[in-house]
Amino acid sequence: MSHHEDTQYSSCAKLNLGLTVLGPRVDGYHDLESVFVEIDLCDTITIEPAADLSCICIPSVTATNEDNLVYKAAQALQATVPLPTATGAKITVHKRIPTGAGMGGGSSNAATTLMALYEHWTSRSARTPEARHVLQPLAMALGSDVPFFLHGGAAYVTGRGEMIQPLDAPIPWSFLVVLPGIHVSTAGAYASLRRTWGYADNEVWRRPSAQVRKTLTDALEHNGKGLDGLHNDFEINVFQQHPLLQHLCDQMRAEGALYAGMSGSGSTVFGVFRTDADALRAQHELQGVTSYLCHARQRPTSTTEDIG
Ligand code: C5P
Repeated sequence: MSHHEDTQYSSCAKLNLGLTVLGPRVDGYHDLESVFVEIDLCDTITIEPAADLSCICIPSVTATNEDNLVYKAAQALQATVPLPTATGAKITVHKRIPTGAGMGGGSSNAATTLMALYEHWTSRSARTPEARHVLQPLAMALGSDVPFFLHGGAAYVTGRGEMIQPLDAPIPWSFLVVLPGIHVSTAGAYASLRRTWGYADNEVWRRPSAQVRKTLTDALEHNGKGLDGLHNDFEINVFQQHPLLQHLCDQMRAEGALYAGMSGSGSTVFGVFRTDADALRAQHELQGVTSYLCHARQRPTSTTEDIG
C-alpha cells in the first residue's frame, strides 16, 4: 500500500511460490504452508471523505457493492474504531487483478481498505505494531489471505494464513503471470483435494511439510537452483480439469523457467525467470492468453517486525 496526497492506495496481487495443504483444522479450514510474494500487478483504491459509507468497484466484481470485501472491511473497522472518528467514506476500487484467479485480489483490497481507513479515521499510521493488533483479527475474519496483505512483501505463511514470517532477502526474479480467464472457487478446490486424497469430511489427517521455505531460501542463495522443487497441491485437480494450465506451465519450463506452477487454487499460472529478457522470450511463445511481466514488491521497511 502506498499513500499519496489524493488518498489513492495501491492494492497489489500475490503469487504463491509452492503451496502445501497440511491438513484440516477443527474450525473446518485447512492448515497450509506457502511462500506468498506480493507483485506489482495492482488495483487502485481511492478514499474520499463522506458522511456515509459507500463503495464502488470499476468494473464491478460482485452482485452488489455491499457484497464486496472492501465494504465488509470498512464496516468491520467502523464497528471497531470508536465513533465519532469512524464516520463515512466513499471508496472507489479500480480493478486490474482478476477474481477467482488465486492472486488474492479481493483479500488485498480488504487489507488495503483496513489500513487506509485506519489512517483516515484515526490520523494514526496503520503500519505500527499497535495498529496491527487492531487490524489483524479483523483481517482474519474477512478471509484467510487478508492478514498477509497487512504486511506485503514476501513471507512464509502457515496456519490458516495468519502465521506470517516475513522473508527479507529480495526476490530478484522476473515473473511471467498468465491469466487464462478461468474462475476457480477456493472452497471447491479444497473440497475436491480431500476427495482426491480419499479423506472423509470428518477425518483428521496431517501431511508432512514440503519444506517450501527452505527450497526458496536455498534457491535464492544459489541463483535459482532447485526452485523447481516447489509444488502446489491444488494443481493435481485443477490441471486435470483445465489441461491448458499444465500445457502453459510445460511451455514456460521449455522456455527456461526456473519454476512454473499455479498460484493459490488457480487459475493463474506463472513462470519464474532469471531475467526480464528470458520472461519476455517465453511470453512471445505463449499463444492466445493474457500475460504480464511482473516483479516482487519489497516490503516497506517500517513493517520489519514479525507477528503470528
Ligand atoms: O478464508 P476464505 O474465505 O478465503 O476461504 C474460502 C474457503 O476456502 C473457506 O470457506 C474454506 O472452505 C477454504 N479454506 C480452507 N483453508 C484455508 C483457506 C480457505 O479450507 N486455509
